[in-house]
Amino acid sequence: MDNGNQSVVSEFMFLGLGRSWNMQILLFMTFLMIYIMILSGNIAVMVLIILDPQLHSPMYFLLANLSFVDMWLSSVTTPKMITDFLMENKTISFGGCMCQVFFVHFIGAGEMVLLVVMAYDRYVAICKPLHYSTIMSLHRCIGLVVIEWSAGFVHSVSQLVVIVKLPFCGPREIDSFFCDIPLVTKLACIDSYNLDILINIDCGLVIVTCFVLLLISYTYILLTVHQSSKTGASKALSTCTAHITVVVIFFVPCIFIYVWPLNITWLDKFLAVFYGVFAPLLNPAIYTLRNKEMKNAVKRFRGYFMVFK
Ligand SMILES: *[C@@H]1O[C@H](CO)[C@@H](O)[C@H](O)[C@H]1NC(C)=O
Repeated sequence: MDNGNQSVVSEFMFLGLGRSWNMQILLFMTFLMIYIMILSGNIAVMVLIILDPQLHSPMYFLLANLSFVDMWLSSVTTPKMITDFLMENKTISFGGCMCQVFFVHFIGAGEMVLLVVMAYDRYVAICKPLHYSTIMSLHRCIGLVVIEWSAGFVHSVSQLVVIVKLPFCGPREIDSFFCDIPLVTKLACIDSYNLDILINIDCGLVIVTCFVLLLISYTYILLTVHQSSKTGASKALSTCTAHITVVVIFFVPCIFIYVWPLNITWLDKFLAVFYGVFAPLLNPAIYTLRNKEMKNAVKRFRGYFMVFK
């Protein structure tokens, strides 16, 4: 269209996962199934918590929020990836690409802050049990959720303003299945070295701050649990193991993509699938299977439907 000396790139092309057609079909079926499981699992957790009055406490409200966040996080990239398996040309418009960058960082950073809030909630419950109801009031809880979304928004906008104005004129192939910042800056026709450092600092600030806060809370929790009675301790420990598993599944890939990039293409793709697809899949499973209250709620829920048959 534009034959001047500066041609403008209006779309990008994903190289995707896998090469052969058979592989694409196999991946299509696998990820379609996983995505259906992500949606149904997370929606089930939310419905269960909202409908069951016995689960109306900050810990479960936050868990419902985590399911909500997980569902949207995977929905930013997974549906496009799934339909792309069946396409010869896996293109995405410039606007679509920027949208993916925006929402991945908005929701991803939101999820990190939410994990910190959940850890804080457990810290108060276990280390300051007598003050729990005053410290984690509904008011406070809603406030923390608002902070979570605001932090995600500020982080994401700060990234987007930098990359949206970059000149894209040459290569347009992205060796991945969704648009993310390190991949997009690589395509800009400027020397992106300083820019990459700036972005590493921006992402690193969010990730490292959250990670350190999480470490501090869980250290306090584990120390308190260690000193207290056996029965209470084992219950607290089981809840915290679930939390810590989720934190590891989500943070470790993010650290190796944004803070300390290894720049190994296949590994980066694998890590991206891990935090974008597997983390949202595993979260509801981990919490529901490890949590007695959630299991009881599932039983009550079933009982409820038996009665009305
Ligand atoms: C998220 O948390 C807030 C505050 O506790 C709660 O009011 C809201 O219902 C939760 N959202 C979901 C989707 O469960």
